[in-house]
Amino acid sequence: MPQYVYQCCINPKCNATYDLSEILHRCPKCGSLLDADYEWDKLPVPQSLSHFEEYWNQRQIPQRFSGVWRFHELLPFAPFEQCVTIGEGQTILQQANGVASYTGLKSGSLYLQYEGMNPSGSFKDNGMSAGVTHGRLVGARQAACASTGNTSASLAIYCACTKLMNCVIFIGSGKIAYGKLSQALDYGAKTIQIEGDFDDAMARVQEVSKKLGIYLLNSVNPFRLEGQKTIMFRVLEALRWEVPDWIVVPGGNLGNSSSFGKAFIELHKLGLIKKIPRLAVINATGANTLYRLFEQEKLRWNNGNIDQLKVDSFFTQMDDEGRKASTIASAIEINRPVNLTKCLRALDFCNGVVRQVSEQEILDAKAKVGANGFGCEPASAASVAGTKKLVEEGVIGNDERVVCILTGYQLKDPNATVAYHGTDQTFFDSVLGKRGVQTADFANHPISVGNDLDAIIRLLK
Ligand code: F0G
Repeated sequence: MPQYVYQCCINPKCNATYDLSEILHRCPKCGSLLDADYEWDKLPVPQSLSHFEEYWNQRQIPQRFSGVWRFHELLPFAPFEQCVTIGEGQTILQQANGVASYTGLKSGSLYLQYEGMNPSGSFKDNGMSAGVTHGRLVGARQAACASTGNTSASLAIYCACTKLMNCVIFIGSGKIAYGKLSQALDYGAKTIQIEGDFDDAMARVQEVSKKLGIYLLNSVNPFRLEGQKTIMFRVLEALRWEVPDWIVVPGGNLGNSSSFGKAFIELHKLGLIKKIPRLAVINATGANTLYRLFEQEKLRWNNGNIDQLKVDSFFTQMDDEGRKASTIASAIEINRPVNLTKCLRALDFCNGVVRQVSEQEILDAKAKVGANGFGCEPASAASVAGTKKLVEEGVIGNDERVVCILTGYQLKDPNATVAYHGTDQTFFDSVLGKRGVQTADFANHPISVGNDLDAIIRLLK
C-alpha cells in the first residue's frame, strides 16, 4: 500500500482516519462519508499544472494514455503500475456557439465537456477506473453497485475487460433506459432487478454488500470520486490551465458535484490554481431533493456542522407523502442522494447554486445539444437547461465562461430522442406527453415518402 494516504471521515467533529486497506462505506464511528486523503507535503506534487503536459508524449504507456491516470500525482492512492485502465477519459471540451446562443450566452462563452465519449458512454468510467483500482489493492473478488444505468454499465465493462472481479448490479424494475440495460447484460453482469426504484436499490445494495463482503462501487466509495476529479483536470487542461467562471453539472446521487468540489479544494490548497470556479448543480423538477434543501430550506455545509434535523425531517415528510422521484432524465431519478453532505461542501467552497429544470426544458436543451454535435442523454442536458435558466436570471453573466458537463452519450436512451423528433403521436404521448412535455419546438422530424424516385426528388428540390 502506498504511504501517506488514508481514508478520513468528513465530519470535522469526528475526523477519524482509517487505513487504505480497510473496506468501508462510511465512517464506522459516526456514519459520515469518507474521503481519500493525502499528506500532500510528503508526496511529490507538481509545481504547476503544466507539468502534466510532459505526459502527452508517453501515450504508449496505458496509464499515461488514460485521461484519469495521467494525473496520477493528484490521486496517488495506488501504485502507478497497478492503476486499472481501459482507456477512459479520452473526452473533449468543445466550444459550442449554437448552444451558447440558445442559453443566452455570448458566442465563445459556452463549452461542452463530452464525457459520453468514455468506453461505456458516460462519465462513470473516470470513477470506476479508480474504484476498481482500490478494489484490486484490497483483493476484492466480487463487486456490486445500484444504478440508474450508467454506473452498472461502467462497472460491468471494467469487470468484463479486466476479469479482476465478478460483477453484480442492482437496478429498480422498469427504471433503466434500454441502452444502459443492454450494456450490463452484454458485458455479462449478474443483473438483479428489484421491485422499487433507485433509492430502494441503493439501500439494498449497501446492506447486501456489508453482509456478504462484496466490494461496493457506488459513489459512496471515496475512490470513485478520486477518479471523477480528473474530469475537472481535463477541463482545465483543455482551457490551457485557465479556470472557467462556471461549472454546470446535473445532480443525481451528487457524486460528480462532490468530486469536482474536492478537486478544486485540493488544487487550491496545493497552490495549483488561484481562482475558484462557481458550481451550479441542476436537478430535474421530479427529483429535486438538493434544490429543495439548498435553495428552499437553506441547508448549508456550515463547516461540516450540517443541520441533520432539517435533513431528517425532510426525508420523513417525503416518505409520509409517498413522494418518489420521477423524471424522463432517468439517470438522475433519485430522491435520496448519498453524497448530499459532500455536495454541500462543494457548493460551499465553490460559491455554488442549485436549480431545477422541467422535463420540457431538459428535452429542448437536449435537442439543441444534439443539433450542435455529439449529443447527450436527457440527464446530461439538464446542465444546458440549467445554464439557460441561470443566464435568464442574471446569475450567470452572458459573457462569463461556462462549462457544461455532458455526462452521458446520446444513444444511452434513444426512446426519448425518437419520441421528441419523431412523428408518431402515440409514441410521443407514451414517452413524453405523460410527463407533461407538450411541444417539440426543436424537433427534426423525419419525412415519410413513397418508394418513388420522382416523389423523393420533389421533396429534396
Ligand atoms: N448524468 C448521468 C448520465 C448519470 O448517469 C448520472 C448518475 C448523473 C448525471 C448524476 O450524477 O449521481 O454524480 O450526481 N447516474 C448514476 C447511475 C446514479 O447509477 O448511473 P451524480
